[in-house]
Amino acid sequence: MNNKTVLVTGGAGYIGSHACVELLQAGFKVVVVDNLSNSKPESLSRVQQITGSPLTFYQADIRNKQALTDIFAKESPSTVIHFAGLKAVGESCEQPLLYYHNNVYGTLVLAEVMSNANVKQLVFSSSATVYGESSSVQYTENFPLGPINPYGRSKAMIEDILRDLSAADKTNQTEYPWKIALLRYFNPIGAHESGMIGEDPNGIPNNLMPYVAQVAIGKLKQLPVYGDDYPTRDGTGIRDYIHVVDLVKGHIKAIEALNSEKFEAGGCKAYNLGAGRGYSVLEIINAFERVTGRKINYKISPRRAGDLAECFANPDLALKELNWKVEKNLDDMVADTWNWQTKNPQGYI
Ligand SMILES: NC(=O)c1ccc[n+]([C@@H]2O[C@H](COP(=O)([O-])OP(=O)(O)OC[C@H]3O[C@@H](n4cnc5c(N)ncnc54)[C@H](O)[C@@H]3O)[C@@H](O)[C@H]2O)c1
Repeated sequence: MNNKTVLVTGGAGYIGSHACVELLQAGFKVVVVDNLSNSKPESLSRVQQITGSPLTFYQADIRNKQALTDIFAKESPSTVIHFAGLKAVGESCEQPLLYYHNNVYGTLVLAEVMSNANVKQLVFSSSATVYGESSSVQYTENFPLGPINPYGRSKAMIEDILRDLSAADKTNQTEYPWKIALLRYFNPIGAHESGMIGEDPNGIPNNLMPYVAQVAIGKLKQLPVYGDDYPTRDGTGIRDYIHVVDLVKGHIKAIEALNSEKFEAGGCKAYNLGAGRGYSVLEIINAFERVTGRKINYKISPRRAGDLAECFANPDLALKELNWKVEKNLDDMVADTWNWQTKNPQGYI
């Protein structure tokens, strides 16, 4: 049993709710702060049903400094996992100020409140979108950063801010230095094996897997496949998909690492969380048809601006330093997505 309290921003969301399950099952106390801008409180009821453990929920915006300060004073967390953020690339191009305000300013407020409360252990949801153009399709953490949209830039800016914060500890010879893990996610998909929590996008999904699932169940008519003339094995784009439960287990491993001698002197370090192999869009469709027995109606459409042909993670550093690697395979990801979709055709209601 572990009686440390982890404060989870954005804990009612897709990845956050799965993280809450793992944290509770690992014996942590969990405090969720979420403004419910892209989630429903039902996800947290389900987390408690799955685990049989209670959690504490505050409906609050991380940009509300007073509310956050009061929560920290009351709950005394030892660690923060920071998921709260807006994540739609297209929307970020239409409303960049909203994204910078929510994601960057929100993180500034959080970091200030953490600093004032002397809580200096942080796991941050970064993204593979922080990487710039590269001659290799397999990304390692030391590749140059160069995001190409406001969402990705908001993540890269936050990474810079957190690196600066950690670097300032050395200048100031701080007694209690920041310990920060920047986790760069590739493409999380899937759902908890119970089918009780999963991804519940508002409106038409932006991501491939929920789109495929909604076509399979008849909620959407047809899946657009953007480009079949890329220089890949079948012409469609290749990405590194990672089961959301594997992904959140990486956060528990990151907390363990931050508490180990590796981070004794503090520091801020980035880790790729990916499978280290890619699947094409057509391979995902085929796997979905095989596992579910449903036909996926799709149509080849023109390429989308800004899409890469292929990219996937080099996850070696996370294995070496966090002792983490993926355990689930593509069929698990598809079967769990389908289980969630069929049990919750309208998402959380
Ligand atoms: N899902 C992905 O494909 C993916 C990939 C890479 C990185 N990420 C990052 O992981 C994190 C979690 O992603 P997700 O897929 O679970 O998204 P999500 O939208 O399901 O969850 C984010 C949660 O944060 C909350 N939130 C947003 N702004 C807030 C604010 N100002 N104050 C309080 N709560 C706020 C939302 O209500 C939501 O519950 C995000 O930071 C996202 O950018 C996601």
